[in-house]
Amino acid sequence: MATINTNFDKLAAGYLFSEIARRTKEFANKNPDIEILRLGIGNTTEPLVPAVINGLAKGVEKLSRVETYSGYGDEQGNLLLRETLGKWYQKRKVFLDPGEIFISDGAKSDSANIQSLFSKDSVIAVCDPVYPVYVDSNVIAGRTGEFSGGKYKGLVYLPCNEENGFFPDLPKRKVDLIYICSPNNPTGAVATKKQLKNFVDFAVKTKAVIVFDAAYFAYISDPKLPRSVYEVPGAKECAIEINSFSKWAGFCGVRLGWTVVPMGLVCKNSPQGKLNMLWNRRQTTMFNGASNIAQEGGLAVLSPKGVSQSQKVVDYYMGNARMIKKTLSKMGLKSFGGDNAPYIWLKTPGNMKSWDFFDKLLLEAHVVGIPGSGFGFSGEGYLRLSAFGHRENIQKAVESIYQNLKI
Ligand SMILES: Cc1ncc(COP(=O)(O)O)c(C=O)c1O
Repeated sequence: MATINTNFDKLAAGYLFSEIARRTKEFANKNPDIEILRLGIGNTTEPLVPAVINGLAKGVEKLSRVETYSGYGDEQGNLLLRETLGKWYQKRKVFLDPGEIFISDGAKSDSANIQSLFSKDSVIAVCDPVYPVYVDSNVIAGRTGEFSGGKYKGLVYLPCNEENGFFPDLPKRKVDLIYICSPNNPTGAVATKKQLKNFVDFAVKTKAVIVFDAAYFAYISDPKLPRSVYEVPGAKECAIEINSFSKWAGFCGVRLGWTVVPMGLVCKNSPQGKLNMLWNRRQTTMFNGASNIAQEGGLAVLSPKGVSQSQKVVDYYMGNARMIKKTLSKMGLKSFGGDNAPYIWLKTPGNMKSWDFFDKLLLEAHVVGIPGSGFGFSGEGYLRLSAFGHRENIQKAVESIYQNLKI
């Protein structure tokens, strides 16, 4: 008799996005003539750049001829793409062997699957607020207790708030896996080298492993801020980096990412090279490689034209972010992030609860944001606004906030 994995029952209901949709629909039904302006989405909206389209077309074209057709490729990814990524890292003085880089179909699956390398009794630390995948994947794997009072028992939450600049303090207890996302979704905060170094030193000392999600690295324009965890000395001993072409080059629908598992990475019962070998084993067993067309697209992103054209689209989104931040500040509203990240973390006026402010913004300005409390306990009192969107829509949304929101 089959029985289900009852850890799924522990998952807190997927309440956030369905509740946003419900409230937005209710408003739309009551106000059919009002245009609803969306400032919540974390999805790219602008077309792929010409250099990348050419790369993808080349990938399709190769499949049309017997001399260049390919079926399954290496599970680890196209060697040329891994070598090219390695060279691209060298610009930041990070030196990786192609064998340390694993191409994937995106950062979401890798950030969910990476926990499978670690023992069931590993203690997991996550930032609060948090990108929910890190939490839910560990819940499903059975590393937490029940969800109660907005938290999972057995999970170590590292609060990120105004006091600590939305970057967590070091854990006060022993932890085994630490998830860090920088630039951060949802707060838009970016870790400095010093902040990362603190965590790297802590992890090396305690043989913990950091899972570093750099999916938004392309939004960092400040040259002093690290785009990769490996810019910090010691990180190759203790950190796995997960990354993506989604937000960098508009691949949200194309699907391509990569994960770095350095040969030097160690943990309590794993000497150098073993974790790399385990991820290789995991991928060759459970993954059949990223799409060959998408990988041609990835190579095109990494070409000089691809890098500069894709960066222009990132700059366009960051122009949206500046517009949003400027309007909020003109209105006396406090916000964080949005300087080196596409997310703006708006502090609700008068300590309003996130959902109350969500309703107010929708009712008065017809703008949809994402309630911060949906990302965790410490997100209460905040709203996430996103810079992804067509300029004219962002313009309409900020004008409506400026003219209609009563504060
Ligand atoms: C922090 C973070 N990591 C990973 C992802 C998913 O990236 P991908 O499209 O490569 O799966 C997202 C998507 O929104 C994200 O916010």
